[in-house]
Amino acid sequence: MKHIPVLLGSVMSAIGDVRDARVIDATFGAGGYSRAFLDAGAFVTAFDRDVSVLDDAIALQKEFGERFRFINEPFSNMCNLNEKFDAIVFDLGISSMQIDTPERGFSFRFDAPLDMRMSNTGPTVFDMFSVWSVTDLTRILRNFGDVGPAVAIANAIKQKMPRTTFELRDVIHNPRDVAPVFQALRIAVNDEFGEIERALSCVPKLLNPGGRCICVTFHSIEDRVVKNTFRDWTRPVGDPKMPTIAQPEFELLRAEKPSDAETESNPRARSAHMRGVVKSY
Ligand SMILES: C[S@@+](CC[C@H](N)C(=O)[O-])C[C@H]1O[C@@H](n2cnc3c(N)ncnc32)[C@H](O)[C@@H]1O
Repeated sequence: MKHIPVLLGSVMSAIGDVRDARVIDATFGAGGYSRAFLDAGAFVTAFDRDVSVLDDAIALQKEFGERFRFINEPFSNMCNLNEKFDAIVFDLGISSMQIDTPERGFSFRFDAPLDMRMSNTGPTVFDMFSVWSVTDLTRILRNFGDVGPAVAIANAIKQKMPRTTFELRDVIHNPRDVAPVFQALRIAVNDEFGEIERALSCVPKLLNPGGRCICVTFHSIEDRVVKNTFRDWTRPVGDPKMPTIAQPEFELLRAEKPSDAETESNPRARSAHMRGVVKSY
C-alpha cells in the first residue's frame, strides 16, 4: 500500500535542474517526490498535515541531513515562511496509505467510522453531519462532487445520520453516486479547496524569479481551481486600452497527463493532470 508517485517524471522535467535549488514539496505523502528532489541535489522543505508520514520524513532527515526539513502542518502555512524558493510542488488529494487504511474512513470498500480527516485533528465527517444543514450538505455534494441527486442524498444523510462508511453507502441509492459523495465529504471536512486557494495565494511572493509552481490534481473540480488561478497569473498586467501593458508575472508550462503505460502500472494515476507556471520576474 506504499504510495507510488504519480507523474514524477513530468514533474521533474517541468521544474528542471534542481541542484542546490530550494524546493517546497507541499504534499509529502510517502516522500516519493521529496526523495527525487533530494537525489537531484535540492534543498527540500516538505509539508504534510498527516502525522502518520512522520517515520518516512525522519528517514529522509537521517539520510539527507540539513538538505531536508519536514513541517507537520497544513501546506497553507507555507504563507508564514519568510524565505524564497525556486520551486513549489503540490501533488494534491490523498495518498494510497490514507485510502487503504480502513479505520481512516476514506474508502467505501471497508466498513469503518466516518472519519476522513487527513490530520486526525478536528471534527470527523460524522461530527460534521450535526453541524451541516441540508443546504450546506447539498452545496458540498454539488460543488465538490458534481453529485446529481444532491438534495435527496443530503436529506437522507440528515435523516439517517450514518456513522460508518457502509451506513453512508447504504443511504445512496445509485452506486454511481457513491464515489462522488465520498469525495465531496472528504474535500469539505479537510477544507481542501480553502487550503489550495490560501497556499496558491502566497506562491507569487515565495518564488524567486524563474521559480516554478507545479500542481498535480486528481479530479476536474480541483483541476479547475488550479487552472483558473494560473490563468489569472498569466494575464498581462494593466489596462489593455493603454499603450504599455506589463508582461505577465507568470508564463504557463505545458500541461501533462500520465501516459498509458503509467496508468496501466498505477491505476491511481488515471485521472491525474499536471499544470505548471514559471515566474517571469
Ligand atoms: C497524493 S499524496 C502525495 C504523495 C507524494 N507526492 C509521494 O510521492 O509520496 C497527498 C499527501 O498530501 C497531504 N495533504 C493533502 N492536503 C494537504 C494540506 N492541505 N496540507 C498538508 N498536507 C496535505 C496528504 O495528507 C497526503 O499525505
